[in-house]
Amino acid sequence: MVKVQARSVKREYSIVNSVGKKETLSVLKGLDLDINEGEFITLLGQSGCGKTTFLNLLAGLEKEDEGEILIDGKPLSERDFNRGVVFQNYALLPWRTVIKNLEIGLEIRGVKKKERREIARKYLKLINLTAFENQYPHQLSGGMKQRVAIARVLVYEPELVLMDEPFAALDAQTRESLQIELIRIWEAHKKTIVFVTHSIDEAILLSDRIAFMSDGKVNEIIDVNLPRPRFKYMTSSSEFLKIHEKISFLLQEEAERLQSYGAYL
Ligand SMILES: Nc1ncnc2c1ncn2[C@@H]1O[C@H](COP(=O)(O)OP(=O)(O)OP(=O)(O)O)[C@@H](O)[C@H]1O
Ligand SMILES: [Mg+2]
Repeated sequence: MVKVQARSVKREYSIVNSVGKKETLSVLKGLDLDINEGEFITLLGQSGCGKTTFLNLLAGLEKEDEGEILIDGKPLSERDFNRGVVFQNYALLPWRTVIKNLEIGLEIRGVKKKERREIARKYLKLINLTAFENQYPHQLSGGMKQRVAIARVLVYEPELVLMDEPFAALDAQTRESLQIELIRIWEAHKKTIVFVTHSIDEAILLSDRIAFMSDGKVNEIIDVNLPRPRFKYMTSSSEFLKIHEKISFLLQEEAERLQSYGAYL
């Protein structure tokens, strides 16, 4: 079943250019994309191609100028649906303990204290941070904070999880363990995940499909048919290398296109 349908989505911004003149910057130029229920899809593309802009539209933080986004066949703006957003910078509330950070989404939704605590503890266990229940964010490492940020979103079981380069600031080892953890949680709950990364390896290891974006559109969809569970050693398999080569080629092609237009953003 299709969860999200983006149809000819356009988004532009008014900006002041380098010589002080007002200009319209066209970021999404008729983006089409279907996202299936329960799938793990990754958006990949050069910096500035509009990945975050598209996530912001899906999150309902901004609105498209033209085109439409449908959730379960209905316009996004008319559907009061649960979505969770995980950004790169954790965005935890520093004055709340780990468990209380996890409870925010449930609190907003009016879940009673006892039930909230129970659900939050279940997720705390899932991210192996039970011992840190009463610590504050500043007492955690970067990786731990990001685990809490991910669990905080998953705790209220959103229909759609949006993740914008959530692991970009982490060291390689923490990143790898969080990738494994994320897939474990995703496999248990099968929520639809839209993930953004600049790492080709990460995209291939995590995704069912990779949407390659360029010039404000989805230019190509790459199916990842590697069996799950996927492991690091698979990065030397022929299927992995084939996909890797294809994406590297697309990125290279796009870099050359941008350079020839002098349009590096
Ligand atoms: N609020 C805004 N006002 C004006 N321009 C914006 C705004 N938000 C984004 N842009 C511009 O839109 C373009 C796309 O930005 P966006 O953040 O979507 O790119 P991205 O693909 O996420 O890039 P990155 O990989 O670097 O995160 C950029 O040129 C950016 O400068
Ligand atoms: Mg971005």
